[in-house]
Amino acid sequence: MKKIVVFTGAGVSADSGLSTFRDADGLWANYRIEDVCTPEALARNRALVIEFYNKRRKELLSTKPNPAHIAIAELEQHFDVEVVTQNVDDLHERAGSTRVTHLHGELRKLRSERNSELIVPIEGWEQHLDDRAEDGSLLRPHIVFFGESVPMFDRATQIAAEADAMIVVGTSLAVYPAAMLVRYARSGVPIYVVDPGNPDTSMIRNPLAHIKARAAVGMPELAQQLIEEKES
Ligand code: APR
Repeated sequence: MKKIVVFTGAGVSADSGLSTFRDADGLWANYRIEDVCTPEALARNRALVIEFYNKRRKELLSTKPNPAHIAIAELEQHFDVEVVTQNVDDLHERAGSTRVTHLHGELRKLRSERNSELIVPIEGWEQHLDDRAEDGSLLRPHIVFFGESVPMFDRATQIAAEADAMIVVGTSLAVYPAAMLVRYARSGVPIYVVDPGNPDTSMIRNPLAHIKARAAVGMPELAQQLIEEKES
């Protein structure tokens, strides 16, 4: 069965009401990365970092998947689909996608500050400042901060190398190493970009089709096109 790898960023969740990072009203227009998304920030001002992720987790609880997430999940009925996402929300899973690799962590999980393998789900939205892991160390958001390694990237490159088609939805392709994923598709594998804006596609050498539309509109249309091509 043909394998489709769907590589997503914050834009796929924008139509669910979640902020992106680099759009005009994005998260990085309202917060400094060095205040809320670095190991130094967590050490220097733990309360602000915990509050930042608590706010995003609380917002996520009242958010639901949009037609883009649903179209991606429904593709599994026609193709061998794997999602590699930069997003830390769980909307792909809630839409029904069964194979999701999170490159930058997950909002709904916390982990030991001492042992990055000790990961626990969080009930509700609120992490308390003094919540501790079983190993006795303080818990922290299970998020990859800037300057930290991206442990799932190697696995993601293997997934990308298996793609017969790659769909890139809602990412500016501005953050590395995640953005490099488009370079791991085999030569000749078609890459479809679904984004109303202009992500940095300069490093894409494969056949490229840019569907300039919001994900909630463009993704269902692209899914339908791929299904019809398969059936024809
Ligand atoms: N539908 C599809 N794409 C959209 C929509 C929409 N409704 N709205 C915005 N976009 C596009 C923008 O045009 C942009 O290309 O989504 C992309 C969002 O880019 P960023 O805000 O940079 O988000 P992302 O690419 O996911 O950021 C990557 O940066 O800050 C880190 O860890 C964070 O995972 C994040 C990484």
